[in-house]
Amino acid sequence: MDGVTDAAFRYITAKHGGPDVILTEFVNIQSALYSPQTLLQDFAYSEIERPVVAQIYGKTPELFYQVAHIVCELGFDGLDINMGCPAKKVAATGCGAALITFCARKRHTLPSRPFDNHT
Ligand SMILES: Cc1cc2nc3c(=O)[nH]c(=O)nc-3n(C[C@H](O)[C@H](O)[C@H](O)COP(=O)(O)O)c2cc1C
Repeated sequence: MDGVTDAAFRYITAKHGGPDVILTEFVNIQSALYSPQTLLQDFAYSEIERPVVAQIYGKTPELFYQVAHIVCELGFDGLDINMGCPAKKVAATGCGAALITFCARKRHTLPSRPFDNHT
């Protein structure tokens, strides 16, 4: 959850709550690619959080693909593409809940084959 589940929150939750799975805040795919600070800060996690899933959002299939590789390289246990956030500032840009309405785009977003380092 944006603005809530940062690394510190997730660490405390993992230590004292022991959830079955933990997700990061959603990270914008453009920021992940072009802002090193975002990448380091928003994708930072502790081993105690495992299984830990990176949640990302955006609307451009090629950028989803590139960020998916970064997420794999960083050792996350899973990747979640946000298609549910209805917040105006997200959905109004074609991301989040709006993404699922673009069926053709969605078809291209989801990989038809496993990523290279998972084969
Ligand atoms: C119904 C709902 C679903 C949301 N889903 C997510 C989510 O899946 N992941 C996430 O990181 N943030 C999620 N958010 C957080 C919103 O994106 C966040 O509250 C919003 O960007 C904050 O905007 P504001 O600071 O302008 O109020 C959700 C918010 C709402 C209201």
